[in-house]
Amino acid sequence: MSKFNLSKTQEETINKLLAQMTIEEKVGQMHQLSPSIVGGFDVSFEELIEMVTDGRISNEEFGKIMASAERDFHEDDIRAGKVGSYLLNDPKKANELQRIAVEESRLGIPLIYGFDVIHGFRTTFPIPLAEACTWNEKVFEASAEIAAREASAHGIHWTFAPMLDIARDARWGRISESAGEDPYLGSVYARAKVRGFQGADPSDREHIAATLKHFAAYGAVESGQDYNTVSMANSMLHNGYLPPFQAAVEEGALTVMAAFNDYNGIPCTVNSYLLRKVLKDTYGFGGFVVSDANAIRECVSHGIAEDLADASRKAADAGMDMDMGSGAYHGHLAQQAADGEVSEEVLDEAVRRILTVKMALGLFEHPYVEEERMAKYDGALDAIHLGTAFDAAKRSIVLLKNDGILPLKKTQTVALAGALADDGENCLGAWNADGRGSDCITVKAGLERAGVSVTYAACCDTESEFRPAELAEAAKNADVIVAVVGETNAMSGEAASRADITLPGHQRELLKAALATGKPVVAVLMNGRPLALQWEQEHIPAIVESWQLGITHGDAVAAVLLGDYNPSGKLCATFPAVTGQCPRCYNHPNTGRPGSKSKFTSRYLDAPLEPLYPFGYGLSYSEFLYSDLIIYENADVFQVSVTITNTGSLTGEETAQLYLRDVTASIVRPVKELKAFRKVTLAPGEAQKITLIVKKCDMGFYNDDMEYCLEDGRFIFYVGGNSRDCLQAERYVHFL
Ligand code: NOJ
Repeated sequence: MSKFNLSKTQEETINKLLAQMTIEEKVGQMHQLSPSIVGGFDVSFEELIEMVTDGRISNEEFGKIMASAERDFHEDDIRAGKVGSYLLNDPKKANELQRIAVEESRLGIPLIYGFDVIHGFRTTFPIPLAEACTWNEKVFEASAEIAAREASAHGIHWTFAPMLDIARDARWGRISESAGEDPYLGSVYARAKVRGFQGADPSDREHIAATLKHFAAYGAVESGQDYNTVSMANSMLHNGYLPPFQAAVEEGALTVMAAFNDYNGIPCTVNSYLLRKVLKDTYGFGGFVVSDANAIRECVSHGIAEDLADASRKAADAGMDMDMGSGAYHGHLAQQAADGEVSEEVLDEAVRRILTVKMALGLFEHPYVEEERMAKYDGALDAIHLGTAFDAAKRSIVLLKNDGILPLKKTQTVALAGALADDGENCLGAWNADGRGSDCITVKAGLERAGVSVTYAACCDTESEFRPAELAEAAKNADVIVAVVGETNAMSGEAASRADITLPGHQRELLKAALATGKPVVAVLMNGRPLALQWEQEHIPAIVESWQLGITHGDAVAAVLLGDYNPSGKLCATFPAVTGQCPRCYNHPNTGRPGSKSKFTSRYLDAPLEPLYPFGYGLSYSEFLYSDLIIYENADVFQVSVTITNTGSLTGEETAQLYLRDVTASIVRPVKELKAFRKVTLAPGEAQKITLIVKKCDMGFYNDDMEYCLEDGRFIFYVGGNSRDCLQAERYVHFL
């Protein structure tokens, strides 16, 4: 089962331990806990963690609460071998508890500490949705590697990332944690994240275990409403949603987290088709599966389990190896195994997987985090980590519109408006681990550090009334108005779906008033999801999507606004024109009546046919011309070449994208699918012929029975700088 290159001795240790373990000790390994708060608080520790990670309370507030909280670390249970893992970010405590597990429990099996390290630990990187717009696997890998280095110095062995949910619905708050809507880009991202978090050797103390989550199809929750039900054909699951998971399993990911939602009527937590047949049997996944928080208990609310005991049995039988926080296994599984209601083989399989991961992480050899490592990333920020974060942040920015007013000149006086422009906390985005708002460079600070003369006025935040007098005063002597508008951290991430994805509050009034001054206006967006920007696209001369870029947010925005960095980001998720177009993606299946101007086609009466900005879209201060599409075929691959010319006056980076359409097949296929992309940097006037490669074996699809089919027939090849504007050519393909 194990693909993690354990030595023979390590395998033998696992066998010996399994042979000695009592049923209670086995169940202990399958039980993950958070410290429970005993007194003084109305919310559980899990809720507190969620409040701080999604930004409802700041890290500082969280720190104060925790410092005064009385916590129960269940030391007696650890001593008795009844706990296998903790959700914890507290290095000193981690060592203390580990000492109990290793030195005072009968078998001395170390605890594994997991935590949500989603986009950086202390050095906060761009939110995943932003980072995916770099289309750059080096960036994906580097940020994960740094997050692992900093988190491991805090005693964390295991991150609950990367989230690999394909997200096609901008209403869903968790789109911010995803790499967007495309399974190919998602797979490149998935592999790079696993390499970054786990490194070549996850036991080297600088790397941590990755978690592929949420398995599966969580991104397709109905109406974009979090925790909702999912309905999906099995072929869509395998073609559209699972490829990033399969890719990451191949890359050696150590753990997987099941999704909260049901698939085909069965909650993923107890879904043996997903956990056993697909993940473990077909993909050959050798690590362990953890439930999402409290999800085993929630099977009772789903209405597929009578009570917690019933849920425990169903989860264990379905291949759920570790229970995160519901207490179902802790309370019931040992008895169920003793009574023969759950076979002991089920426990043995789960425990073997958990011990395999602990072994692969080197926890048996070095269970503690050393004091000097702890100190290293505690106080000061690391300059190299900051540099890498800045590089990622610049590359994540997507230029959505430019009538020519960008880049700004450093000599122009800028009236800067919007509360988000001067708000470090809201540069962090949802899930910010040990990130601190006070460390973040705001847009205001970024422009000032770049030497720009700035007059600032908040004018309004995401909720408050717009205060026109503030804008008038700030804009009086300015050459240009930069309005920073968007969402707070709490408006995306978990439990943060929105039914209206236009700019919240009164921020559009701010933009209107800015336009009314007659001065040029740039809108800089800070947000965690695609927004519906039809009005803004019609009226605002320049729009820069800066997302939530983390610790170097303002420096990166300043670099783009001033032309010190020529923007190169490309959208990893479609921006619908209006909320009613959600869910929206470029790679949807064909219909019998594709939308057009005629009435009886797939369209709305009151909204445009097309989304506002398509997948893959993003402007540069350069312009790129595509020409000479040529297709070469050999036995195994298609080589598709195209010439790209920089017709602008600045050096720029372009991402050429290759899409494919399978014209006729035995099941309905997507109108376009990304199959390859390549980056090229071109000086003004420079032209380069580039080649993109598609393997023939990747031109097939899964049918509803999970069979992979390669069917002869016509294919259209498209190449362009986004999914809409492409050169195209058709070929008839015979698969041998
Ligand atoms: C719930 C979230 O769905 C999951 O992504 C996260 O890892 C866990 N809580 C633990 O915080």
